[in-house]
Amino acid sequence: MFGFDSVNLPLLKQRAFNLRWASVPEGVIPLTAADPDFPCAEPIREAIQAFTHDGYFSYGDTLGYAPFKEALSHNYAKVKHTAFHPSHILPVDSAAYGIYLICKSFLMAGDEAIIFDPVDFLFRYSIETVGATAVPFAIPAGTDQVDFNSLEEIITPNTKMICLCNPLNPTGKVFTKAELNSLGNIAIKHNLLILSDEIWSDIIFKPAVFTSMASLDDEIRQRTITVTGFSKSYGLAGLRIGAIMTTNDQHFNIIYQASMHQSTVHGTNILGQVAATAALNECSGWLKNYIEHLQKMRDITVASLNEMKGVQCIAPDGCYVAFANITGTGLTSSEIHKRLLEEGKVSIVPGLKQWFGEGAEGYIRLSFATSEEILNEALSRIKKTLN
Ligand SMILES: Cc1ncc(COP(=O)(O)O)c(C=O)c1O
Repeated sequence: MFGFDSVNLPLLKQRAFNLRWASVPEGVIPLTAADPDFPCAEPIREAIQAFTHDGYFSYGDTLGYAPFKEALSHNYAKVKHTAFHPSHILPVDSAAYGIYLICKSFLMAGDEAIIFDPVDFLFRYSIETVGATAVPFAIPAGTDQVDFNSLEEIITPNTKMICLCNPLNPTGKVFTKAELNSLGNIAIKHNLLILSDEIWSDIIFKPAVFTSMASLDDEIRQRTITVTGFSKSYGLAGLRIGAIMTTNDQHFNIIYQASMHQSTVHGTNILGQVAATAALNECSGWLKNYIEHLQKMRDITVASLNEMKGVQCIAPDGCYVAFANITGTGLTSSEIHKRLLEEGKVSIVPGLKQWFGEGAEGYIRLSFATSEEILNEALSRIKKTLN
């Protein structure tokens, strides 16, 4: 299911953009954006085909497709032990837009929001787009237990929100319940909202265990707004589908108003919601196999990186990306990126501020959501180039 035969390279070269196959020169292997090389699960394709068969694509419910909201509520309750009532769920057209919409709903110019460093660029981007300031809190790769008490040093009267990314892209850290409780208690003490991005929460490698922020006690839960998406676990990035999950009417109403869904200026495509419903209801077996494959790819990637001169990589507990320290090579992440692209014919993401924040310099990020054959070829090219 996840072998070389499943990877349709001619189609990926036509369709996979965002730094991937369709965006790189011929012959280059892109281990770049975290988007799998595999097609989505069969039940998702069947659900889309069944829906399109009758030819009706009428305006959908501006509050979202009810079966999708029920499926997500049920899935979170069953798999992540977190209760979200369907009426508190707003489908959105991607996790990226969900992050932006939460920032638009709760931040104004002059406000501050805390982001982790390194972390995916979407947090800083969304905060700054609404005129607020992103304040970084360092969680370097390999940090075992985060001392969230030191977060208090960067909280000011202008701080409104803490952005949690769990698991943390790019380092793959999965936060423990104790860490999340201490983060939640700081949010209570300073009356802050918590934006919890859980898009990676299915991609967890045993023995790590995922805890959803809104599964903690009610005081923490009531100030948490959760966002998720379907690009990582189910390969649906091009359908642009995600959801915001709130725990009370007040948060839901503010977000719904800000979304402009009710006016139809914005909205969430029905096919994405149909696909995500099938993913949640019918693809748990597929997902289990996918995670097993990814765990194997993670082990291959980390072992191979650690054999390379000047490179060190700690195995991620979550996410299908490896975040490797390259300071021992004497090159910057941009220099490595250039050399790998030109000499090795492999594309990786350099640890630049524009992608992950200042704390990413000295690192490169590689996605391993591909077949073993492609991954081994890419890793041997990297090794040859660096050694
Ligand atoms: C932490 C995180 N949040 C959100 C996203 C965006 O997901 P989507 O494709 O649903 O916009 C990504 C994509 O890499 C991500 O890593």
